Amino acid sequence: MSKETGNKKLWGGRFEGSTNPTVERFSASIHFDRALARYDLRVSRAHARMLEAQGLIATSDLSALLDGLDSVEREIEAGTFPFDATLEDVHMNIEARLRDTIGEPAGRLHTGRSRNDQVATDLALYLRDTARAGERGLHELRQVLLARAGEHLDTVLPGYTHLQRAQPVRLAHHWHAYVEMLGRDAARFRDLRARLTLSPLGSGALAGSTLPLDREAAASALGFEGASRNSLDAVASRDVALEFLAAAAIAMVHLSRLSEELVLWSTAEFGFIELADAYSTGSSLMPQKKNPDVPELVRGKSGRVIGNLVALLTVVKGLPLTYNRDLQEDKEPLFDTAATLCDCLEVTAGAVATLRVDVAKMRVGAEDPMLLATDLAEVLVREGVPFREAHEAVGQVVRHCIDKRLDLRELSREDLAAFHASFPGPAAELLDLDSSLEARSLTGGTARETVSAALGEAGAAIGNALAALDAEDA
Ligand code: ARG
Repeated sequence: MSKETGNKKLWGGRFEGSTNPTVERFSASIHFDRALARYDLRVSRAHARMLEAQGLIATSDLSALLDGLDSVEREIEAGTFPFDATLEDVHMNIEARLRDTIGEPAGRLHTGRSRNDQVATDLALYLRDTARAGERGLHELRQVLLARAGEHLDTVLPGYTHLQRAQPVRLAHHWHAYVEMLGRDAARFRDLRARLTLSPLGSGALAGSTLPLDREAAASALGFEGASRNSLDAVASRDVALEFLAAAAIAMVHLSRLSEELVLWSTAEFGFIELADAYSTGSSLMPQKKNPDVPELVRGKSGRVIGNLVALLTVVKGLPLTYNRDLQEDKEPLFDTAATLCDCLEVTAGAVATLRVDVAKMRVGAEDPMLLATDLAEVLVREGVPFREAHEAVGQVVRHCIDKRLDLRELSREDLAAFHASFPGPAAELLDLDSSLEARSLTGGTARETVSAALGEAGAAIGNALAALDAEDA
């Protein structure tokens, strides 16, 4: 079917028959790739300007194209653009609409261009913005965690290993751990942006073009540092998209671990925190329930984000060079991941900002004297006892306390001497919760000043990172 007989398709020439309607629906991506429209328009403007500068289209064609692209953009923004699934994807929808709007010059826009280099360029621009948004969201959540940490320098809770009480820590120290994790996550987004500096545009379908395009000019108009070095690589590769999905999956795993603690800590069994009403839901059946659905959903959604990474890895892994239509499957995982991460960062920030901490409840858990057993062993080490011997002696002390239902701190020097001659005093003098925290003043440790300095350092780093993002966005 030719153009004259009414086929709207842009590849009409080669085809006699029309597309099976199910295939049309099956292969269409417009219902999701319309999210790339604004990038596609930017790419088309840069491409058209370059074509004109190279004498490949007339100046009058360029102005018609720019006007047409503006008009398409207005329609998209106003929600009046007639998206048409029979036109498959966002690229062909825009081009067809341009033809309806400005006529003949529209047919010159695709000069020296393929949808393959076009979609790769759109995606690079999309990833650049989206990774920047992820980076910002992560720093904003870090800021909230840091503020809450700052309120709780003197709040002590049991630190856990194997979910068994292990050693006391400050709540500030605990939440600062997430500030650090999320800082590396933000750095991963920043880092992948450094691999989005070369423009695929001008790589054509796979082998470039016979036309005298100025790839460098188009690249620089789009904010790239230059043109990609291999046309095959440019249209076939999705590794930076994978990197984005991996960075997002790792960040979601961190949010999921934090969420798990919010769930656990708000149980009656722990009772460490209470989530604000605004970030909890009730039960339709049990009137007494206040459920931590928000952190549960964040924890749950991490599964989908991890799945999105695995989905795209699987799509790409068997593809021969170069472009294969399988690659159209890159978009839904990307869009879903970007939206999910952004929502999860926002609700987690809200939940953390508004939760109430039960300082007394945490303290009770931390005051379990057994949490200081390691300190007692280190007392012996200071007396010159080999650590293994000290560990063994204190192990026996602990056993004795459990058997006799004694509080470790009640043991006199004589009681302790039964287990090792080198204990320098009664347990009550050797063991104290606050001194135990203060004694850990090594970098990264629990001493108040150490934790406070770490918070200060993180605060400055977050401030700088957000200022740099503001400058980029300005
Ligand atoms: N919608 C397509 C995609 O996202 C655009 C590229 C189509 N290229 C092609 N040769 N069919 O991958």
